[in-house]
Amino acid sequence: MVARLNLLRPSILALLCCAAAASAAAARGVAHAELWPHARSTGLLDPVTELRVSELIGRMSLEEKVGQIIQADIGYITPEDLRRYPLGAVLAGGRSAPDGGSNRTPAAWLALARALRAVSIESRPGHTPIPILFGVDAIHGNNGVSGATIFPHNIGLGAAHDPALIGRIGAATAQEMAVVGFDWAFAPALSVPQDLRWGRSYESYSQDPALVRRYAGEMVRGLQGEPNGMNSVQSGHVAATAKHFLGDGGTRGGIDQGDTEASEPELVRVHAQGYVSAIDAGVMSVMASYSSWQGVKLHGNASLLRGVLKGRLGFEGFVVGDWNGHAQIAGCSNTNCAAALIAGIDMFMAPDGWKELFDNTLAQLRAGDIPLALLDDAVRRILRVKARLGLFDGARPWEGRPDVLASSAHRALARSAVRESLVLLKNRRQLLPIRASARVLVAGDGADDIGRQCGGWTLGWQGSGHVNSDFPHGESIYAGIRAALEAGGGSAQLSVDGSATAAPEVAIVVFGEPPYAESAGDLPTIEYQAGARRDLKLLQRLRAEHIPVVSVFLSGRPLAADSELDASDAFVAAWLPGSEGGGVADLLIGDAHGAPRHDFSGRLSFAWPASTPAAAAAAGAANGAAAGVKARTAAITRPRFALGYGLHYPAHSPARTAGACNRACAPD
Ligand code: GLC
Repeated sequence: MVARLNLLRPSILALLCCAAAASAAAARGVAHAELWPHARSTGLLDPVTELRVSELIGRMSLEEKVGQIIQADIGYITPEDLRRYPLGAVLAGGRSAPDGGSNRTPAAWLALARALRAVSIESRPGHTPIPILFGVDAIHGNNGVSGATIFPHNIGLGAAHDPALIGRIGAATAQEMAVVGFDWAFAPALSVPQDLRWGRSYESYSQDPALVRRYAGEMVRGLQGEPNGMNSVQSGHVAATAKHFLGDGGTRGGIDQGDTEASEPELVRVHAQGYVSAIDAGVMSVMASYSSWQGVKLHGNASLLRGVLKGRLGFEGFVVGDWNGHAQIAGCSNTNCAAALIAGIDMFMAPDGWKELFDNTLAQLRAGDIPLALLDDAVRRILRVKARLGLFDGARPWEGRPDVLASSAHRALARSAVRESLVLLKNRRQLLPIRASARVLVAGDGADDIGRQCGGWTLGWQGSGHVNSDFPHGESIYAGIRAALEAGGGSAQLSVDGSATAAPEVAIVVFGEPPYAESAGDLPTIEYQAGARRDLKLLQRLRAEHIPVVSVFLSGRPLAADSELDASDAFVAAWLPGSEGGGVADLLIGDAHGAPRHDFSGRLSFAWPASTPAAAAAAGAANGAAAGVKARTAAITRPRFALGYGLHYPAHSPARTAGACNRACAPD
């Protein structure tokens, strides 16, 4: 009976919130649950687990319940702190590493994970042993751990249009997490960006909700295992997180953490589709968005968190806030926010202020400012996930395995993902594929830089400042090209500024955006290098020397680059391909006769914008002079290449050899 009553409780809450929403129907930012689809969630509820959770809750003190709903960052807590503050989870934020240093080795991570877990489950007077969750942003592989396989970022995976690939990448990522003691991935992002100036566009699969919906469930199943499964960690799986609920990609002007003004029907049609399939796949957590909807911050929106997500969509896992995201609710701070719990956040991500937040939340519960029923519901959801993950089972068979991280199978998977993600936008006079016996100049500041090809969220939050030796199992794009050419009797000369002396038959120039994460990647304009077009000058110089140019563009999004496209004979959108740069050469370099070894299959999952006439003129006239970046211009709506565009090699046509193009390819 107890279990049944508990099972009913969330739906009672959902009804209460729907009633509140209906009464406030006129107010902005209030959702109407009846407008939303039903998810067929079957993933997380089972009577045995619910009874076990009820028994646990019955034994827990109020302090222990408050501890379960607070997550600290490893940079601000020690294992010993857990004896006084029995927190339910920790995270390693983008900047955080064991011992606060730069030691990101698998051994260091595993030692920390085990030390934290040991305290959380030790037997001591007055303590209910409950294993701690360890969450990380494993968003393109286990990207915070040195030596891990770094997969292409989601924008490239979207171009692959291959849902099965997504599931395989999720499974490989989960295994590479399990070996170092992590059990919770803050992935997949289910954002549907509407303005590419948003710095997090590359964390999204597509502007197309249907593709995001097809991918979401696959990534959740890849990370977690099949819904209704038990003991995920024992089978090398982890908890997944559908994020950031809801509408993070729809903010005005693409401003990170901004306001999404969409109507409620548009919010459902465009931004919610991934969550339906993620919940159907039994996703264990959802992360609330920093952004707001119609002026109401998501962290404080009960009609969306309780009425829609937990009510109508039937989500049975727990909602985690974003990094101090609760503090963005009016009247809240990092250390004090009853409103978030009341609105439907089940776990505070309180990296630094967790201790004060613990004390304040305990006091608010004792004072009746927060209904105990809400606390119990939050704790139930968290313990439900921990039980389904198998955390109460001490076995961690994957931990410490030396054969999993960057295994040959995972590297091959990543390399095939690179091949599937690249999009061929231009191939004038069939310059590509390049004959393997050709003499090739490889230029551009992205040619031999593994960190650059990985992008943000790589061995650190912003992904910048790395050297190739930081990626012991990685391969740069240049190294891949050199290997392919040398295998075919050709040669590759690296000259970042293109000033090489030996007359090449063709030049491959790798350039594009530097690594960035979150708002650091927000742009005022979608025009590439809108001020000084440094890369254009290199392309134009090579063309002036009658050297055919293949551009390989590294970017977290499509950018308006008409001048660079026009200065290239071939142009490949490579996105952020990750540590297996050899996948690029697999497509660019043919066999000794110039026939393709692999063909392009990628198609744009975002429309590619055209330059504005003013920007194109400025690029021509300014010739790299700092024209100054104008104020935030309106988003460009006219695409240069439509959603779904992508060229392939012609079937059975005699592939051109670069040499033949050398003299005949007059500049445009
Ligand atoms: C960040 C991001 C979120 C990430 C979290 C933990 O601010 O918004 O995607 O999972 O903090 O690093």
